[in-house]
Amino acid sequence: MSTQTPNTDAESDSPQAERMERKAERDDEARAKAGTDADERQITLKVFRYDPEIPDKQEPRFDTFEVPFEPGITVLDALIYARDTYDSSLTFRHSCRQAVCGSDALFINGSQRLGCQTQVADLDDSETVRVEPLPHRDVVKDLVVDMDHFYDQMESVEPYFSPTEEPDGEQLQSRENREKIKMSTRCIWCGACMSSCNIAAGDNEYLGPAAINKAYRFYFDDREDEQRQQERLEIIEQEHGVWRCQTQFSCTTVCPKDIPLTEHIQELKREAVKQNLKFW
Ligand code: SF4
Ligand code: FES
Repeated sequence: MSTQTPNTDAESDSPQAERMERKAERDDEARAKAGTDADERQITLKVFRYDPEIPDKQEPRFDTFEVPFEPGITVLDALIYARDTYDSSLTFRHSCRQAVCGSDALFINGSQRLGCQTQVADLDDSETVRVEPLPHRDVVKDLVVDMDHFYDQMESVEPYFSPTEEPDGEQLQSRENREKIKMSTRCIWCGACMSSCNIAAGDNEYLGPAAINKAYRFYFDDREDEQRQQERLEIIEQEHGVWRCQTQFSCTTVCPKDIPLTEHIQELKREAVKQNLKFW
């Protein structure tokens, strides 16, 4: 039986050791390259600041931070660098860092985007990155906005599966029906669409694109019955529901999950007309 001792000459000649060595060399090269790039290029991060609890920070302003550029750096990475390096009071939300939790929707270079999904190199002006809180929301502190109203609108469409009668057993969904609602299920509740919507900005009661999309998700789910579908339609076509949408497409443009929001709203409008047609 042979025994193996770490770091022997014999081991360093093995194919696995050679592979590890080559990998270490490649990693060193990548680190050196990133370091060189960082030396050569800085990102100027301009960040909105506001803190109602500190007297000399109550006046909104922008702070500027220099952040080293690295290949693949996202706006969220840059914010984290600025917070950890320069100012630990810089406040913003984030969690998953992979476009799943929806917590870091921000106004970046004039557009609603997720910080973790936005690579600095992909911005039109990647030298200066301007980061602001989502427009049309009250600012709690720095980049953190109050999401209560958005969540209220989402809740108002009853965003849960709720057939009138409890099913006898497992309810299978057809492949076709799953395809029909697939995109609408992708919402991560980030609020970017609502923030981009001119109608929502002028009408606080408007359900808004995310809530209507959520309504679409359940309205077209075949596993709910007709009575429930009718109740859902009544919510959707209320005074501040689908008919407020003016088809401006801003929500569809900013949605980080590529949900065809305007299309869904239009489809629900058609559905409302269809369901209310009466023939005498
Ligand atoms: S519909 Fe898109 S933009 Fe709107 S909350 Fe959901 S994921 Fe965000
Ligand atoms: S940190 Fe979760 S979506 Fe960006």
